[in-house]
Order: sequence, then structure tokens, then C-alpha cells
Amino acid sequence: MRTGHPADPAAIALDTVDLADPELYASGDPHTVWHAMRERAPVHRQTLPDGRSFWSVTTYRDVNDVLRDHTRYTSERGTLLSVLGSADPAGGLMMAASDPPAHTALREPLSKAMSARALARWRPRIRDLVLRLLAPLADGPLDLAEAAASFPMAFTGALMGLPEADWARLARLTTMAVAPQDPAFQEGGGHTTLLSAHHELFRYFAQRVREVSADPGDDLTGFLVRMRANGRPLRQDELVYNCYSLLLGANVTTPHALAGTVLALMENPDQYRRLLAEPQLVPSAVEEGLRWSSPANHFLRHTVRDTEQHGVRIPRGDAVVAWLGSANRDASVFPDPYRFAVDRTPNRHVAFGFGPHYCVGAPLARIALGIMLEEIVRHVAEFRPAGPVRHLGSNFVAGISSLPVTAVLRDGMRDALAAHGPLPRPEVLA
Ligand code: HEM
Repeated sequence: MRTGHPADPAAIALDTVDLADPELYASGDPHTVWHAMRERAPVHRQTLPDGRSFWSVTTYRDVNDVLRDHTRYTSERGTLLSVLGSADPAGGLMMAASDPPAHTALREPLSKAMSARALARWRPRIRDLVLRLLAPLADGPLDLAEAAASFPMAFTGALMGLPEADWARLARLTTMAVAPQDPAFQEGGGHTTLLSAHHELFRYFAQRVREVSADPGDDLTGFLVRMRANGRPLRQDELVYNCYSLLLGANVTTPHALAGTVLALMENPDQYRRLLAEPQLVPSAVEEGLRWSSPANHFLRHTVRDTEQHGVRIPRGDAVVAWLGSANRDASVFPDPYRFAVDRTPNRHVAFGFGPHYCVGAPLARIALGIMLEEIVRHVAEFRPAGPVRHLGSNFVAGISSLPVTAVLRDGMRDALAAHGPLPRPEVLA
């Protein structure tokens, strides 16, 4: 998705806008559309050609309200536009598709196992993966988006105890599940792609959970098997849905935060030079990269009762989409919101959501992205474009599917980088 300054919001005809269309995010300009919506229709209703409809909220305040208030906006009927109009079979079983108190019972133990403190022991392993991902830059141009696709799979795969031989296929399947319309990931038509990705992922995790249940290890899957929610162990279907959700949550977002941040640094070389001069800004650059790229583009809720949002009445049972990418450009919260600034403070972005479902993987993502940016700054003096950038065709993931770059390495860093073996090539553009 283009992330620069909006073109001409006044020229946008809001009654013709299609926010569900993956093409808007692959080749269009959603930031101009959202800008117009925040100004002229902050609570906006769209009806699809097949009669299904949904409301959109685009301001920071409305997005926070919708994500926070589960007493008015439920997650149990699904959280992605792709499930609009059909009951979500994971409702009430998967943490992401549950409301408190059932959600809290699942979330509390898991979030302890995934806290920054609990994950500290993984830092050396993540640094090794980062260096292996960057190693090919020593030899010439690299498609950073393609390489980044294997990154979360590697650390989440290791964390969940998934065999390395499965990582490439799992990385592809999770992208098929969120971008079934993107030609690079289609296996059959869009709907078939989505169904077959879900089918294969659920079958995979059912098998995995059976194996782990027989001998739960020290990894996250073993933790889920041993875990108690409200005093009882999770059932097989709950285990499968939550393994799926953890992997999907990590795989479909983290690579795009990384690619989006590098692209922003290339487009704003003064900001990269600042980072080279002041590497202590890496943590705030990670947050700005998250705000800027907002890889999770939207989340869906349904109204539990008739409600009012920003002065607009929304009937009970209607679908409401909170557009995170839009909230993260709201000028009432982010001064000069279309400027990428590695030292932006405060930066209360909603890239990880808000309220009870705030991303449980945020500590892990922050550790991984922080180490990645530290190593980039340590090795790379400058990134140069080595081909056209391609954006992902998905209304859910604001992603980059191709980002060819050449790195000008810092003095003495070529041999240091080349010494690390590369990560297994992901099965992303097979
Ligand atoms: C840059 C990386 C990431 C971004 C931008 C991101 C974004 C988000 C957002 C916005 C939500 C809120 C969903 C909602 O309100 O319905 C969420 C929830 C979630 N994320 Fe992430 N995520 C990232 C990384 C990860 C990682 C690394 C994992 C797992 C290892 C993960 C697993 C999850 C899970 C399981 C939930 C559901 C939490 C709940 O329902 O309480 N995410 N994520």
C-alpha cells in the first residue's frame, strides 16, 4: 500500500469507494480515501454488490472505541472482512474471536508466556536468524520482502516447536489465507485458495497437537497443551484454532512491518542517516515503522445492541470495521501524520490494536524488529532500489510482496555478514 502523502482527498467520491477491494491496497491509494472519510464521513456505510454491508470507522478515537468496548462490539462473529456475512466457526474457541470473560481466561496465561521477560532467552536465536536473513545482501541485490517472509516463520516456528522442514510451506499457507486474491499466492480461484489454505493449516495443526499432547515439550505448543483456562485444559479444537491464530498473527504482519520500515527509510534518506548517527533511536524508529506501515490494516466487530458511534446510529448485529492504518494517520493525535520521523514521541499508534485484544505477540514482534533494525544499522550504510516495489493485494494485510534492494555495506561489514549462512528460501513466490 502506498504510504505517502494523500493526493487529493476532496476529489474522492465517498459513495463509490470500495474499501473491501484488494486492488485498492495493491495499486490504489487508501490513505487519500481514509483522509476524506475522517474529514467527511467518519462513520461510513458501504454495501457490497451482493448486498452485504459494513460500517467503517476511520478516526483514532472511533477505532479505539470499537476495539476497546467488547460490551458494544463483539469479536465472536469473526474479526476479518473476509468472513463478513458468515458465522465464524472459531467464534468463542479462538482467543482472537472471543469476548471477555472467555477471552480473558485464554489470554492471561498465554500473555505471561509471551511477555518480554519470558522471551528474553530467545534474543540470541532471533539475532542469529536476523543475520542469516541479511547475509545475502553481501552478495548483491536481495528481494527484502520475499526474504522477510521467512523471518517470523523462523522465530515463531522455533518458539512453537514446529519442524524447520515445514516452515516454507506454512509461510506460504498463512499468506494465502490473508491474501487469497493476490495472483502470486493463488492456488485455484480466490475462494478456493482461502479454503485450501485453511484446510491444510487446520489439518497440520490437528496432527501437530496430537503429537505434542502425547509428550508436551518446553515450547509454546506444549505450553498451550498444558495450560488451564478457567481451571480446565483446552479442547482439541481450541488448541488447533489458537495455534493457527498465533502463527497467522506472526507471519502475516511482521514481514510487512520490516519491509514497510525499510521502504520508508529508503524514501526518507535523511531519517536513515539520523538513525546511523544516533542508533539509540532504534526503539522509536521501530514504533514509527509500525505506525507508518500498520501491517494489520483492519479488524472487524459486530454490534451487540443498537448503538451510537460519533453521532451515527448503528443497529444491533451490524458489522463495523476499524481501519487501523487510517487511525495511525489521524492528525488530531499525530502531528504532521504523513511525515516519517524516527524520533516521533509520543507515538501512541494502534498498529497492535487497542483494548482486550491488544496484540499478544507485540513483545515478540518488538524484540524481533528491534534486533533487525539494530543489525541493519550496524551493517548497512545505505539501501538503494534494485527493481519495482509490489504491494500485496489484500484488504487485511497492508503488505509489500516485492522490495528488491541493493545494500551499500558499512566498512568491514561484507565479510562479517557473508559469514552467516542464509535462511531457507521461503516458498512464497513458488
Ligand atoms: C508487527 C507485527 C504484528 C502486528 C502489527 C500485529 C497486530 C495485531 C493486532 C492489531 C491485533 C488486535 C486484533 C483485534 O483487535 O481483533 C493482534 C492480535 C493478535 N496477535 Fe498480533 N500483530 C503482530 C505480531 C504478532 C505476533 C509475532 C504474534 C504471535 C507470535 C501475534 C499474535 C496475535 C494474536 C494471537 C492476537 C489475538 C490476541 C487476542 O485476541 O487477545 N501477533 N495483532
